[in-house]
Amino acid sequence: MIIATDEDMRAFGHSLAQKLKRSDWIAINGPLGAGKTVLSAGILAGLGFRGEVASPSYAIVHSYEPPDVLVAVAHVDLYRLDNADELDELGLADERSERITLVEWAERFGAAYVVPSHVIDITPQADGSRILTLKMDNDDTRT
Ligand SMILES: Nc1ncnc2c1ncn2[C@@H]1O[C@H](COP(=O)(O)OP(=O)(O)O)[C@@H](O)[C@H]1O
Ligand SMILES: [Mg+2]
Repeated sequence: MIIATDEDMRAFGHSLAQKLKRSDWIAINGPLGAGKTVLSAGILAGLGFRGEVASPSYAIVHSYEPPDVLVAVAHVDLYRLDNADELDELGLADERSERITLVEWAERFGAAYVVPSHVIDITPQADGSRILTLKMDNDDTRT
């Protein structure tokens, strides 16, 4: 689909949030400035978060817990991670069933690490819009 503005990106995240469940792992791919954090902020808003969402690129993980959100969320950015071992040390996969995990730059290591429930690719266009594709894994037996 075509996402014309950052407000539309946020709104898409907000509506997607209504369909997510605990244990979902959302891989968000796209180049620097594509809108991965804007999308994540929309998802967090849709899960009830009322504050400003900062990029987790320095901390690598920002955790959101109830009552700030309806469901616990780990917002992750793998851009600054050097290798998959560091990803292991974050322990994100261990308790993944207890939270929703949003992973920016998931294609760096994330794909080999956990099978995502959702894969979102964002491709910026010359006119400032974004092409967004969403693939969902409908297998409810995954843990
Ligand atoms: N259609 C659009 N969708 C998303 N963001 C957009 C769009 N048009 C412009 N922007 C701007 O692009 C930037 C995206 O930044 P950000 O979400 O931090 O990117 P990323 O996390 O992918 O590096 C923001 O400044 C946002 O306002
Ligand atoms: Mg970002």
